[in-house]
Amino acid sequence: MAQYKIAVVVGSLRKDSFNKKLAHALEKLLPAEFSCTTVRIDDLPLYNQDDDGNQSAQVKRLKGEIAAAQGLLFVTPEYNRSLPGVLKNAIDHASRPYGQNAWAGKPAGVIGISVGALGTALAQQHLRNILAYLDVPVLGQPEAFIQAKEGVFNPDGSIGEGSKKFVQTWLDRYVAWVKTHVG
Ligand SMILES: Cc1cc2nc3c(=O)[nH]c(=O)nc-3n(C[C@H](O)[C@H](O)[C@H](O)COP(=O)(O)O)c2cc1C
Repeated sequence: MAQYKIAVVVGSLRKDSFNKKLAHALEKLLPAEFSCTTVRIDDLPLYNQDDDGNQSAQVKRLKGEIAAAQGLLFVTPEYNRSLPGVLKNAIDHASRPYGQNAWAGKPAGVIGISVGALGTALAQQHLRNILAYLDVPVLGQPEAFIQAKEGVFNPDGSIGEGSKKFVQTWLDRYVAWVKTHVG
């Protein structure tokens, strides 16, 4: 049985999302003692503090999935030099009500792919800022900024030859990061 359950949070809702593809490719490269659940964020209401005392079933589901996980993996595009609103909305939901932050203490990795040359660097930086406040220990190095270029993925969705070693190195460090924190 998997020892380390990872909640994967993808910042794109797009059907053919590069980030969904990247998340799936990463999941397949994780060792056998890791299992992943991609948390659903597309049906969450817009965060409204008035609802803190009466969170919707979707929000409760999200918080339950995060609570059940030992680690977090954020895979996000960059929208207008930041993280997508849908991802921030999910983060805000699971951080509340005050004092019941579901993210706290869960070791996390942050990675992303975008068409721009900076490969989500600014989105990741903003996300790191938010996660620091939420008491989430995020893997610092190596950073992984991936540009969606020809050949990044093989036709079967796996990571292409040119990026394979780099991605595996990142993943190995992520695995070690989770194990260090979970014990
Ligand atoms: C609203 C919006 C803003 C965007 N802003 C950026 C940006 O700041 N930097 C960047 O590299 N790409 C930007 N893009 C392009 C995305 O990298 C591209 O749409 C990518 O495919 C999104 O990730 P996905 O394939 O996982 O949906 C933007 C796209 C959208 C729709």
